[in-house]
Amino acid sequence: MKGKDSMELFIKGIPKAELHLHIEGTLEPEMLFKMAKRNSVRIKYRTVEEVKAAYNFRNLQDFLNVYYEGTSVLRNEQDFYDLTWAYLEKACSQNVLHTEIFFDPQAHTRRGIKFDTVITGVRRALRDGEQKLGISTRLIMCILRDLNVESAFQTLEEALSYKDWITAIGLNSAEVGHPPSKFQKVFEKALENGFLTVAHAGEEGPAEYIWEAIRLLKVSRIDHGNRAVEDENLLRELARKGIPLTMCPISNLKLGVIKNMEGHPLKKIMEMGIVVTVNSDDPAYFGGYINENYLAVQKALGLNAHQICTLARNSFQASFLSRSEKHDMLMKLEKYAKEYAT
Ligand code: HPA
Ligand code: ZN
Repeated sequence: MKGKDSMELFIKGIPKAELHLHIEGTLEPEMLFKMAKRNSVRIKYRTVEEVKAAYNFRNLQDFLNVYYEGTSVLRNEQDFYDLTWAYLEKACSQNVLHTEIFFDPQAHTRRGIKFDTVITGVRRALRDGEQKLGISTRLIMCILRDLNVESAFQTLEEALSYKDWITAIGLNSAEVGHPPSKFQKVFEKALENGFLTVAHAGEEGPAEYIWEAIRLLKVSRIDHGNRAVEDENLLRELARKGIPLTMCPISNLKLGVIKNMEGHPLKKIMEMGIVVTVNSDDPAYFGGYINENYLAVQKALGLNAHQICTLARNSFQASFLSRSEKHDMLMKLEKYAKEYAT
């Protein structure tokens, strides 16, 4: 492969999966205004430019305040449908063959929106995405860790009625002070009911939270996991157990988790033999979808085409797809890589 432009085309075209994406984080300012108008919700911004100017975050909490405020315009089933559909079209245009989407029911139920309204809208878009766009999807329900354990149990209880639609239970929101151990019992119940588990850990919180997520919540993947670099034993454990990290480079930069992209730990972690993937987290708020994330780390860390292929391959291997689905998508990836190399 020669030149910068061909690397860019290679990244844009490579078949990939997205495994760390909050659907509420795909609410673009234009859609925010449209929904505020149709639902008669007052928002504090007057123009798209004003919204974008507010997207300057010092840390995770700063971002979360704006993110939860954004959810106030989502009220009806159709809103959740439109939000999800717009993301699926975007993902498809970036050659995402498969996506695993987080949703935050408590961000809505605490505003008086029914769990059913949220999940029905999202689910209808996922089905249309599979049928009309050919994109494969899974749904992951996140528990907000800064709310109490009782609310987490209530939310899990509601999820049980939609078991067939939800693949895994995750853990997100303000990390520091809310360790995975707080939700051990909730996750035990989730596992007993056949859900897989994942958790945000080591984004702002310490490496110890990653250990807890593995040992107590029995996670299949760690979301973020940046601070694993501070603990050599943990890095060895992640490699030995094959526990993937779903990393989000632009998010990390925008929330001050890293000082600059050149300092992102992705390459070092990958070179330790850990399964790493690249994802967009909350693309409408951080200004980049999955391809922009690949491009940003490629450029800053000088990743070669072989390493880009590894990241794309990891995305399918770390997914919750069946063996045969993984196989089919990996074949498409290998075919693409081969054609590009010649
Ligand atoms: N971290 C924690 N919670 C979140 C995030 C994140 O990056 N995005 C949406 N909820
Ligand atoms: Zn996230």
